[in-house]
Formats: sequence, C-alpha cells, structure tokens
Amino acid sequence: MPESPVYRSRQTTDCYSVDMSRGYFITFEGLDGSGKTTQLRRLATRLESEGHKVVTLRQPGGTALGDRIRSILLDSRSEAVLGEIAPLAEMALMFADRAQAIQEMILPALADGAIVLCDRYTDSSEAYQGAGRQLGSERILAMHRAVCDDLQPDLTLLLLPSLDASLRRARRRNQRSVQQKGTDEDRFEREDDAFYRRIYEAYEAIALRETQRVVALREDASIDQIERQIREIVSLRIPASVI
Ligand code: TYD
Repeated sequence: MPESPVYRSRQTTDCYSVDMSRGYFITFEGLDGSGKTTQLRRLATRLESEGHKVVTLRQPGGTALGDRIRSILLDSRSEAVLGEIAPLAEMALMFADRAQAIQEMILPALADGAIVLCDRYTDSSEAYQGAGRQLGSERILAMHRAVCDDLQPDLTLLLLPSLDASLRRARRRNQRSVQQKGTDEDRFEREDDAFYRRIYEAYEAIALRETQRVVALREDASIDQIERQIREIVSLRIPASVI
C-alpha cells in the first residue's frame, strides 16, 4: 500500500501498543473565534444521533494532567506567578498535554471503534508555536514524531474564514467569557494582529501540504451552512466499518 497520511495514522504501534484501526480520528482547526468548537459540538450530536460512538476532547486539556497544563498555558495571570513562559517551554507543554491525551483518551477510543473529535491538535502547535512564536515548522513536526509517534488524524476540518472575521469573533468571545465566568483564558488572545496573521498563513500552508488529510472551509458562511458542509464531508469520509 502506498505511504499516505491516512495509512500512517492507522498503523502507529511503536510506542502505543493498541489496535486503533477500528475508529476514526477527526480534528478541528482554526484561529480562535473561527467557530470550530460550535461545529465540533454539532457534529458530535449528529453522529451520536446516527448511532455512532463519539468521544470529544479539546487541546490543551481533556485529561487531569492536560487541565493543569491548560490553566498554566492559557491564563494570562500565569506569568505574574511563573514568570515569562519561554516559547520552547510552551511548545513542550502543549506536547506533554497531547501525549497524555493520546495515551489516556484518543487511542483507547479508537481501539474501541469510536469516532474521536478533537478540538485542536498538532496543526495548532505548528500554527501557533511554529509560526506565531516563530519556532519553525520543522521543530514542531520533529516533536510530533518523537512525542506523538506521528499519530495523524484521518481528517482535519480547518475553519478558515477571513482573518478579520475571526479576530472580531475572538475578541467578542473573550470579553464575554471574562464577564460571565470570571475566568481569564486570554494569554493567546492578547497577541497582536501580526501574530494571528502568521498563524493564518501557516494554516494555509498546512492545507496546501496536507491535501489528503486537511479540508479547508473558507467561506464566511452561516453556522448552519458550515454545519451542512461538514456533515457532507464527514459522511463521505467515514468508512462503513466504523461503528
Ligand atoms: P481555547 O480556549 O481552547 O481556544 P479556541 O476555542 O480558540 O480553541 O484555547 C486554546 C488556545 O491554545 C488557542 O489560543 C490556541 C492555543 N494553542 C496553541 O498555541 N498550541 C497548541 O498546540 C494548541 C493545542 C493550542
């Protein structure tokens, strides 16, 4: 069989000795405020109503260790306590979170025949740390091979509406979350427009490179329209063998 991202994702066994070939692994990617979390929830509800076994998680987070890492990385007050977080430390923590999620959640769910929906994965590290923090893609991809045993999603849905629209939504959402929950998860959202422009361009480059795995949805369409597109893409891709 020719080497392809889809094939590779189904035979990763060097470090993780489980058979994950029965499930299907979907990641959602995009800038903060791109609407991916809403779409992930809608797809999960839909797939469950069709009788699929579905496991959802977000990165960073999703495990007990991951939730601790999340609060360190996302809370803009962290640096008052911990000092400035070095870009390489930020990258390594994102991967520590991911390794734990792979072992504790993703692989067991795939082995169990579930459809795994993950809100962000290594493409986020490539876009945010690789491009945003300017650590470079190669370093992120090498880290992915070393720490995640190169586990690739079967499908990545990349929500890439215009940069302006994404930034507007991210700012609105963050103001709401501070007011409503008193939480402060805006360490990334305080970054300037140049940071987000680099991330946006990195996502575009990933979509061009990973043509089999990544489907980019670029329109500034309504939530319902995007949901319909996602439903069509997913129903064409999920193999009949997946429960
Ligand atoms: P989150 O509140 O989950 O935001 P969103 O709804 O936009 O996904 O915050 C996740 C933040 O962490 C987001 O700003 C992107 C960032 N991030 C990275 O920088 N690198 C990574 O590898 C991951 C997974 C997330």
